[in-house]
Amino acid sequence: MNFSDSELIATILTKQNFQFVDSADQAEVILINTCSIRDNAEQRIYKRVSELQHLRKKNKQLKIGIVGCMSERIDDEKMIEEGKINFLVGPDSYKNISNVIFQSENERVTDVLLSHTETYEDIVPEKLIEQGISAFVAIMRGCENFCAYCVVPYTRGKERSRPPESIILEIQSHIDKGVAEITLLGQNVNSYQFSNNLKIITFPLLLDELAGFFPHVRFRFATSHPKDLSDELLHIMAKHQNICKSIHLPMQSGSSAVLHRMNRKYSREWYLQRIDSIYEILPGCTISTDIITGFCGETHEDHLETISAMKYANFFHAFMFKYSERKGTAAAKTMDDDVSEEVKSERLTEIIAIQTQLSKKHNERDIGQVFEVLVEGVSKRNDLELMGRTTGNKVVIFEGDLKMYPPGSYAKVKIDECSSATLKGCVV
Ligand code: 5AD
Ligand code: SF4
Repeated sequence: MNFSDSELIATILTKQNFQFVDSADQAEVILINTCSIRDNAEQRIYKRVSELQHLRKKNKQLKIGIVGCMSERIDDEKMIEEGKINFLVGPDSYKNISNVIFQSENERVTDVLLSHTETYEDIVPEKLIEQGISAFVAIMRGCENFCAYCVVPYTRGKERSRPPESIILEIQSHIDKGVAEITLLGQNVNSYQFSNNLKIITFPLLLDELAGFFPHVRFRFATSHPKDLSDELLHIMAKHQNICKSIHLPMQSGSSAVLHRMNRKYSREWYLQRIDSIYEILPGCTISTDIITGFCGETHEDHLETISAMKYANFFHAFMFKYSERKGTAAAKTMDDDVSEEVKSERLTEIIAIQTQLSKKHNERDIGQVFEVLVEGVSKRNDLELMGRTTGNKVVIFEGDLKMYPPGSYAKVKIDECSSATLKGCVV
């Protein structure tokens, strides 16, 4: 989502005659797009802001601004007061960014008002870096789930869905530049809902329409909230060959007690039943997840339940984090962050090791099978090999050259070896 926001900001500024430069020391304005989700993300930004200060010595006119989620949270504009940054622009104020930049000539400026309606539907974001074969398209913004640990509802505001016509325009603009795979993005894509005079378009309907309208594009989407992952959506995925059979379904914890405290609005049983439905309706579908260890009150038994759920769900990949208390969230206000740092780390290390095993076994089951691989380019490690992804979002490395398999083409690859992270094979 942040990357997609950076492209949005770049597009808005380019239209207003701002130009990109190659390095920070040539810039008159530096924007730092930020994430607040965990404390270490914010700490990295503070460090970056400090590192950039030396440039002010060379260029007294230099303006440094923070954009995105952290703008909504910086305490008492502390950094502004200290003169380290000149302005703050929140995720719903990007259209006003050039005014803020100019205004900050004379004073320090903040524009962090969250909107109920801004979807940037009238902007088709330009690619920041050279267009690969894969592009991200934001279809909705904001989140109203208020998971107890999470800052997103406070930094990104209410849910808003973009009109389908504007999504279609953006997808077409990517296709015109050679994109072959689109990932539809939103904090909770399943909450997508847009009403026009004729009907209410929900996420399954949108996906059905897009997959039919652009049959040569491969579609992915992220992120799905388990409580909203309907069988209707799974059947739409089954209906279209060009919707990838891979779902990112954050579990967060395998313990119903912890899930309840997290305000996730589902239980362990519900989650695992969703997993059953995925494998039933979409055999061979891969599932990835997010897990938080050491949330408030998490016991050893809760932790074991997470491990058993990971094994049951047979995730092919997981993003795993230690719980990081975020000021202003329900957990910070009403619960004790009572799992020690040491125990959080131990549990994290344990689940990472278990997931590595699960990923390896998952990949071993692919040995001997043939996959359609969408070629992305030359492998980073070896010029004689190409890299692409299966519909299940697994990275495949195989011998070949770009003349035969240019980026965006499909190769049929038989898998003959693997690690926990990649598959390797030969074209058949
Ligand atoms: N601490 C740790 N992890 C968090 N996430 C969100 N908030 C926190 C937090 N306070 C994780 C969740 C979410 C992912 C994007 O980040 O797992 O799904
Ligand atoms: Fe945060 Fe929960 Fe919304 Fe995801 S669904 S962005 S974890 S509040």
